[in-house]
Amino acid sequence: MGIEIIGIGSYLPEKILTNAELEKMVATSDEWITTRTGIKERRIAKDMEATSDLAIQSAKRALKKANITPEEIDAIIVATITPDMFFPSTACFIQKEIGAKNAAAFDISAACSGFIYGLAIAKSFINSDTYKTVMVIGAEKLSSITDWTDRNICVLLGDGAGSVILRKTNSTSDILSTYLGADGNYGDLLLIPGGGSRNPATHKTVDARLHYMKMEGNKIFKIAVRAMADSAKKAIELAGITCNDVKLIIPHQANIRIIEAVAKQLDVPMDKVFLNIQKYGNTSAATTPIALEEAIYEGKVKKGDIVVLVAFGGGLTWGATAIKL
Ligand code: UT7
Repeated sequence: MGIEIIGIGSYLPEKILTNAELEKMVATSDEWITTRTGIKERRIAKDMEATSDLAIQSAKRALKKANITPEEIDAIIVATITPDMFFPSTACFIQKEIGAKNAAAFDISAACSGFIYGLAIAKSFINSDTYKTVMVIGAEKLSSITDWTDRNICVLLGDGAGSVILRKTNSTSDILSTYLGADGNYGDLLLIPGGGSRNPATHKTVDARLHYMKMEGNKIFKIAVRAMADSAKKAIELAGITCNDVKLIIPHQANIRIIEAVAKQLDVPMDKVFLNIQKYGNTSAATTPIALEEAIYEGKVKKGDIVVLVAFGGGLTWGATAIKL
């Protein structure tokens, strides 16, 4: 018995923020953003929209594709660093709105690697017969933690959500492998310093802009390349396949130069690597499910093909999974 993705859906807010518009907000240029990151535009949620609102849209689309009722969902796992609130979990808001009244629901925090961490948990739930049908969601409203005066970070991020529904199957489909890693020694390279129990919200923390994401991008760059390439290799090895068996690599979309360097280390041509960074930028945990949905929708992969999802993010965390669709 394997595990099949019986439904997948994504949701991107309508509002597009272009590089040209960012030029009017901070000291940057379309030329810098394009050549250093590959990003041309990103989507931004409405002020009143929360992460769960984006996730609910993607979850409803996944349910429609799967052609199942919400009551059939046994668990909802939401990967996010931009929960609606500290608690209750964003997963519980989603559970209520989609009517998944029989589902356990919880959030996980593994930043950009969160969706792959979520898939690994779902695989364990299903293989241990704990649950039959599990929904995994990567959803972010990164615009809510973006310092729009900090050019080092505001040009990189966007909002979006992607959901998959997994179920045990007799078909050849399977999550062939998952590989996860972390190194907390590098935690201070990418973080939100304020608002948690370490630095509870005060006028002082707000005035110091501690509730926004901070990143030491160039220190992360090299670690990201090595961790993503190693993770993808590990997932391929654990699946008992070779790179030649993989139809498409779907990497986290943080920087086109990171993706190109990873492809080089894996010795795969760029036409075997999925890219949508130009349209959406980095949407953290939402990036890989959105990209997987697009790759399927665009016909780049079909049933029976093997894809490798690989991600890297705050924590630092990383992970990869080989999936036979
Ligand atoms: O989501 C997963 C975790 N995050 C990542 O994986 C991100 C990894 N890092 C990166 O993608 C890249 O390091 C960045 C895109 C963040 C930055 O690119 P970089 O080539 O590493 O640039 P840098 O930080 O070394 O900065 C080079 C220059 C600096 O100017 P000086 O000091 O050389 O005069 C920056 O101040 O570029 C400047 N700069 C900008 N200039 C125009 C930084 N941001 C901008 C900007 N527009 N938006």
